[in-house]
Amino acid sequence: MLQIRPERPEDLPAVHSLYVRAFPTEAEAEAVDKLRARGAYLLSLVADFDGAVVGHIFFTPVTIEKEDGTFFDAVGLAPMAVQPELQRRGIGSLLVRAGLEALKQLGFAAVIVLGHAEYYPRFGFLPASRWGIRYATDVPDEVFMALELQPGALSGQSGMVCFQEEFQEL
Ligand SMILES: CC(C)(COP(=O)(O)OP(=O)(O)OC[C@H]1O[C@@H](n2cnc3c(N)ncnc32)[C@H](O)[C@@H]1OP(=O)(O)O)[C@@H](O)C(=O)NCCC(=O)NCCS
Repeated sequence: MLQIRPERPEDLPAVHSLYVRAFPTEAEAEAVDKLRARGAYLLSLVADFDGAVVGHIFFTPVTIEKEDGTFFDAVGLAPMAVQPELQRRGIGSLLVRAGLEALKQLGFAAVIVLGHAEYYPRFGFLPASRWGIRYATDVPDEVFMALELQPGALSGQSGMVCFQEEFQEL
């Protein structure tokens, strides 16, 4: 049976191996370990298939630095991975939807993602540029996206998104 549930301490080695297998380098696996070790995350969910970790999604704090020098708190979706043999069966979608619902219930305002332009719009993500939200380096408009968890949350929050420092190494 497939179940989406919060990560538990005993899942850590399996989550690490999952990222090693799903990405070309170990950078994502190491970034998740570092972020978790210093508590720099908001939500960590696994897809558990009959007791085996087959997917993972991680949400970390991000800030939007506004033109007036103030900051707006949001959530970054990254990274996520599904075991290569089990991709394209809807497991990633279950992880995203469960994560967004949990964050909404917890009262978070919005989620930011830098990722596949064909994937995230199905969950409601739109180019972040529509709110004047920018990424530090030049990336194609369609890969830098945002989603409001509370209606209107991003109105007037234009500025530069700052992810946790571990993401600079990815
Ligand atoms: C991206 C990923 C998490 C999606 O998980 P999944 O369980 O395969 O996703 P779902 O089954 O819910 O959705 C399938 C859709 O994902 C998209 N997708 C899956 N893998 C993709 C890839 N490598 N590149 C682009 N889109 C991809 C496709 O649009 C696919 O839709 P389709 O089957 O209609 O063509 C998974 O493919 C993965 O782990 N990829 C490698 C790591 C990665 O790129 N992570 C995301 C960046 S942090």
